[in-house]
Amino acid sequence: MAAVTEAEAQYLHVLSAFLAMEPVNSVISLARGCTGGSITDIAQRFFWEICVKASANGNGSYAKKLLKKLINEVELEYGEVLDEVYEEYALYMSASSSKEDTLVKENRRITKFISFLFPEGSYNHPSCPRSRKLVIPLQCSLNMLEGDTGCCIWPSSLFLSEFVLSFPELFTNKACFEVGSGVGLVGICLAHVKAKKVILTDGDLLTLANMKLNLERNHLNYDDESPKQPGEAAHTTRVKCIHLPWETASESELSEYCPDIVLGADVIYDPSCLPHLLRVLVALLRKPTKTDNGSLKTEDKDTTQQGRSPVVAYIASVIRNADTFNAFLTLVDQMDLSITDLTAELRPRFELLPYMHSYDRSSVKLFSISFR
Ligand SMILES: C[S@@+](CC[C@H](N)C(=O)[O-])C[C@H]1O[C@@H](n2cnc3c(N)ncnc32)[C@H](O)[C@@H]1O
Repeated sequence: MAAVTEAEAQYLHVLSAFLAMEPVNSVISLARGCTGGSITDIAQRFFWEICVKASANGNGSYAKKLLKKLINEVELEYGEVLDEVYEEYALYMSASSSKEDTLVKENRRITKFISFLFPEGSYNHPSCPRSRKLVIPLQCSLNMLEGDTGCCIWPSSLFLSEFVLSFPELFTNKACFEVGSGVGLVGICLAHVKAKKVILTDGDLLTLANMKLNLERNHLNYDDESPKQPGEAAHTTRVKCIHLPWETASESELSEYCPDIVLGADVIYDPSCLPHLLRVLVALLRKPTKTDNGSLKTEDKDTTQQGRSPVVAYIASVIRNADTFNAFLTLVDQMDLSITDLTAELRPRFELLPYMHSYDRSSVKLFSISFR
């Protein structure tokens, strides 16, 4: 790919922020950065011709909000709003109002495009696409609470995705199992770095249905059967979507997945779920142990586990409540697991979401968990 100029890179940030539906103030401030402060005709034209046209994905109300803010800001500066911008805004005004109100009330779903932008100089990095950007469309909800928790994109999954893309060597050709996968972003990144197997799970059926839709939108085939026999773990399907509530997942079901790596993003928040989550992690992390005479104990039924490196879990988390996190640490200790804070050591090599000002990378911590 030809080297991009500073201005092109800045406009790419504006477009990426727009497609990720970043707060409109943030998108407009990025545009101001491209033009040295004021919103010039060029910046207005960029919004009207490139961004708004690119959002022909049904997110009209966001485009309308942005155009409104743009017009307000240009008018406040006594600048001249382009006729085309007024016309585009008028079109959105007439088309959407009543339909939108209904959709908002109905807990509407929108599509965000998450663009991972690889910096100059990363061409040779194994996860860097030729275009130096990996754009992942994700259907998600605007409502972070009220039963739609798993249909939102949480900061830890952005962090874990950057981590996967930064350190593909940890995941390529590995069987990866994610707990509480939500919209499926981490799984899509794992598929991008060619994990051998990607097992995505969630306890919420609506979240699971939304995740499957996102896999389809990203051209990933999945199957949604759990393995029926122990030996089936090595079979060919690369992506699986499994309904797996931590409370009811059985040890025998869990022992059949045999992952090399377990992942979880923003799954430590509900104290009542923590013992169940820990029980799931223990079952997935369990490795065969040697008896006194050197043979393997049979607690691990799958013989393909023999000789494997220890299974490790990478858990990314924003610590919102210290008591909840301490309760998690206590359980980790009681279950004979060790936890290491890798945030500083394994900082994602690249800042792949430089335009996403709503994402506070420094708020996320990365832990590895394994058996002592
Ligand atoms: C805060 S969301 C994080 C989603 C996603 N990992 C992300 O970071 O964007 C927590 C996820 O864990 C799932 N979850 C919560 N409690 C669960 C349980 N008891 N069993 C299985 N999944 C659960 C939710 O459905 C949701 O998808």
